[in-house]
Amino acid sequence: MADFTGKVVLITGAARGIGRAFARCFAEAGATVAVADIDRDAAQATAEDIGRKAFAVRIDVSDQSSIDAAVQAVEERAGGIDVLINNAALFDLAPIVEIDRAGFDRLFSVNVAGTLFTLQAVARSMIRRGAGGKIINMASQAGRRGEALVAVYCATKAAVISLTQSAGLDLIKHKINVNAIAPGVVDGEHWDHVDSLFAKYEGRPPGEKKRLVGDAVPYGRMGTAEDLTGMALFLASPEADYIVAQTYNVDGGNYLN
Ligand SMILES: NC(=O)c1ccc[n+]([C@@H]2O[C@H](COP(=O)([O-])OP(=O)(O)OC[C@H]3O[C@@H](n4cnc5c(N)ncnc54)[C@H](O)[C@@H]3O)[C@@H](O)[C@H]2O)c1
Repeated sequence: MADFTGKVVLITGAARGIGRAFARCFAEAGATVAVADIDRDAAQATAEDIGRKAFAVRIDVSDQSSIDAAVQAVEERAGGIDVLINNAALFDLAPIVEIDRAGFDRLFSVNVAGTLFTLQAVARSMIRRGAGGKIINMASQAGRRGEALVAVYCATKAAVISLTQSAGLDLIKHKINVNAIAPGVVDGEHWDHVDSLFAKYEGRPPGEKKRLVGDAVPYGRMGTAEDLTGMALFLASPEADYIVAQTYNVDGGNYLN
């Protein structure tokens, strides 16, 4: 495993779930980790749990002034940012005929605009510093293929894959690698929420959707947040210097390129 001692890693949506697992693994690999989340108290609790390599930062990725303040806070506290993981996102379900503009705007504002403008703020910082960097966006298998009830979330994740390609091609001249990870179904609070929404819209008993999607994974179970950490460490490492604008499936075999 690469040694991240002396490196600074900013992870959005890191108070819980996949982001928290990323924060822990980068701290264990020696990095100083900024645990950034809209939920300041939860970010603080996660940072304290990880220990002295981690510190909490409040960020609302749907708010430009909050993004700018968070990036500045990390620079002041830890120095230049070496790695950004654009992980914060929202999920919702609705049949096509029930999607409303407010819900659409909410998901696009966090999942798409939040990803782009956090990437932009950190890329500007990396360019000023002149030491390159690594940016990892969190896409999803939902971005590979549309799904009934999941139209808006799927569209946001397809946009993340597209932004990863464009930003990756644009920023590599600054030695900034932009790539993405597309998880499949990862157990945790996010999927508890997804399961409750499917229970509502498909009339299922609680827990049934989770069991079905887990059984359908070729590997034989849902993923865990820890199943994704190896790919994140790799994409953030010098071994990934020649990897540009790609999205990697880490999904137990659900989606085949
Ligand atoms: N869990 C899965 O099955 C799965 C599958 C594919 C992709 N993903 C993606 O992986 C990433 C992490 O997923 P997760 O399961 O850990 O989600 P999660 O819902 O458990 O955690 C998301 C975190 O983002 C934070 N957040 C929400 N809005 C924010 C905002 N405006 N600004 C800053 N932080 C905000 C939340 O407070 C929370 O801590 C997301 O991008 C998600 O779309 C998850």
